Formats: sequence, C-alpha cells, structure tokens
Amino acid sequence: MSSEQKSQLAHQPHPNPVSAEQRATFLENPGFGRIFSDHMATIRYTEGKGWHDAKIEARTPFSLDPATLVLHYAQEIFEGMKAYRLPDGGATLFRPDANARRFRNSAKRLAMADLPEELFIDSVRELVKIDRDWIPEADKGSLYLRPFMIANEAVLGVKPSAEYLYCVVASPVGGYFKAGAASVSLWVSDLYTRAAPGGTGDAKCGGNYAASLPALAEAQQHGCDQAVFLDAVERKWIEELGGMNIFFVFSDGSLQTPPLGGTILPGITRDSLITLARDLGMTVREEPYSIDQWEADAKSGKLVESFACGTAAVVAPIGRVRGRNRDFTIGDGGAGAVTQRLRGALVDIQQGRAPDQHKWLDRLF
Ligand code: PLP
Ligand code: COI
Repeated sequence: MSSEQKSQLAHQPHPNPVSAEQRATFLENPGFGRIFSDHMATIRYTEGKGWHDAKIEARTPFSLDPATLVLHYAQEIFEGMKAYRLPDGGATLFRPDANARRFRNSAKRLAMADLPEELFIDSVRELVKIDRDWIPEADKGSLYLRPFMIANEAVLGVKPSAEYLYCVVASPVGGYFKAGAASVSLWVSDLYTRAAPGGTGDAKCGGNYAASLPALAEAQQHGCDQAVFLDAVERKWIEELGGMNIFFVFSDGSLQTPPLGGTILPGITRDSLITLARDLGMTVREEPYSIDQWEADAKSGKLVESFACGTAAVVAPIGRVRGRNRDFTIGDGGAGAVTQRLRGALVDIQQGRAPDQHKWLDRLF
C-alpha cells in the first residue's frame, strides 16, 4: 500500500487533546516510554468475522473481563519502531514492512490471528499522521511506536483465543539509556537463559521480556546496565541482550554477530547494520562466538569494540562485561570508531541526512 492510498481506519479525533504548551514541555526531555501521544489505533478480530472496527481514537484505558485470556496465559505479541523527523519538517518510518512481517511471524508462533501487513502499516502511518505534532525534533529524539496484540476472549480453557485486540500507541522518546554515559556495562547471565531451541526466542512476545527480568535485576545488583544471555544448551555461545542484538568488532576491522536460528530475535537494526557495514566494505560474519573467546579476545586486543543494537537502544557501545568469574573491559571502555561510524550511517539515513539507498524510508508527509 502506498502512503497515498485511503486508510482503512476511521478517525475519531480526541475531544480534548494535550495543549501545545504542555506538549512542548513533554518533548523537551521525553525520556523513554513515559509520555504518550493523544491517540491510539485499535483493530478488533473475531473468529468467523475477521478484522473489524479499525479506528484511530483518543488514547484511553481498556476495560477487560478478569477472565480475558491474555491475563492468564500471556498470549500477547508486540513490535517496536520509530517515526523520525526529517530536516524539512516531514516525517518518516524506517522499514515498517519488516516490522509488519515480524509481527505476522510472532502471531504465528503464539497461535494468534494473522494481521495483514498492509493493515499493520496503515495503522501505524495513520496514528503518526494524526499525532504528527508529537514527533520530537531530530536532535531531541523520535516517536516510538508500539503496536501490540492481545488475546481478548474471556475464557479459562488453554486454547488460542477466538478474539484479539490489536492496538498501536505512540511515545515521544529520547535515549533508552541514561544520558551522558559513554557505554553500557553487561552482566553475563549464568543462572538464566532467554530462549531455548523450539521456544519463542525469535518471536516478540511479552513473555520473553517478563522471563528476562530476574536476569536484568541480577545485572543491576552487580552494577551493570543489562544482562547478556548465553545459549540454553551449552551455556557457552553469546546470544543477545533482553531487548537488543549484539555485535563484535575485531582489530582486522571485521564484524561478527551471532547467527539467527530460532533463539534470537531477528532485529531490524541488526539486519540494517549488516547491510550498511557491507556497503562500507567491512566483512560481517553471522557466526557463533563464545563467552570465553570474547573475554580472551578482549584481553589480547584481537577484539576492539562491541555494541548492542535495537530500535529503542539504536547503537549502544559496550564498555565493560562482568560475570560470576569474569570482569573485562572492551577497548578503552568507551565508544569505538567502528561503532560510531555505523551508528552515524544508520541514524543519518533514518533522519534523512544521507541518501536512502536501500529504500528503507516510508515518508509520511
Ligand atoms: N532483541 C530483542 C530481544 C529485542 O527485544 C529487540 C528489540 O526490538 C531487538 C533484539 C532489536 O530488534 P530491532 O532492531 O528490530 O528493534
Ligand atoms: C525495541 O527496541 O523496540 C524493543 O522492543 C526493546 C525493548 C524496549 C523492549
């Protein structure tokens, strides 16, 4: 669907939107995921009837029966994407087709209704257009979009729901990590794993994030920002963080990232950075890397940089890694040159300062 086509969502504008002054205060220093725009998109699904009642309406609480399936068995999926302000005052989405596709894959893994990709993209575009004043200026942040779907049937039998509620909310955001830090620190989780073969690691379902929280709490108890997870079988291979993929940069200039294969979320940022690095002539390997090798290579100088990446985090340099019997620094503990170069290449495309050679932008207005 082109952004010129008529939307399938009806508009019910907010009767009492936030004032321009209040919004300007919010946008000055938005933080992450604490402030929300005026509207939300909702679409309902009923077995036998399909998708219906697609609309943009005032953002308001849902009323749910206490027996609603999602509250008991966590049949829920979500996406994370951003709208960016362009230098001419317009706005763009970044690869929304990739989010729409991943949402369908997540729905399939959780036995949920299949939302057509055009409808997903239509809902996000319309919400951003109606809440366009909530997109921060490029130097202040972006408008984070959170499409999600819940099992909405009120029944306690364990079965796929016959009803679903799909919704998109929008939140102006700045950085995901605390401002001013040159890098993030990681705790190597050896008590918890994130995903097992045959599990839901490559689906974006809420349950994965709930189950990652004790590892995050443990990381924070040890003074680290995030936990990094190892594979569930050998407890040896680095997989990813709770909400970000991971890359390693070597002294020969090559990059490596763990391969996809069911237990890792196929990040759109990951995929974009692989493409951009190759465009810049860098070698990128999608190959397993063990935690012991990471430590040895960081200590010998063979590994010079590491970074985490994702829509919320963008590209975050990793400065220090700690674990039960390990503590090592990556490079000089700050942001390395390759990390900064790749971050710049990605953000320049997203914010319309560099040519969009791969046709990743979906300009909204
Ligand atoms: N891995 C996990 C577990 C995530 O939650 C995310 C965030 O969405 C990512 C990786 C990065 O994915 P993306 O780059 O598509 O945002
Ligand atoms: C994102 O990067 O969009 C995520 O979903 C990660 C996290 C904030 C849950």
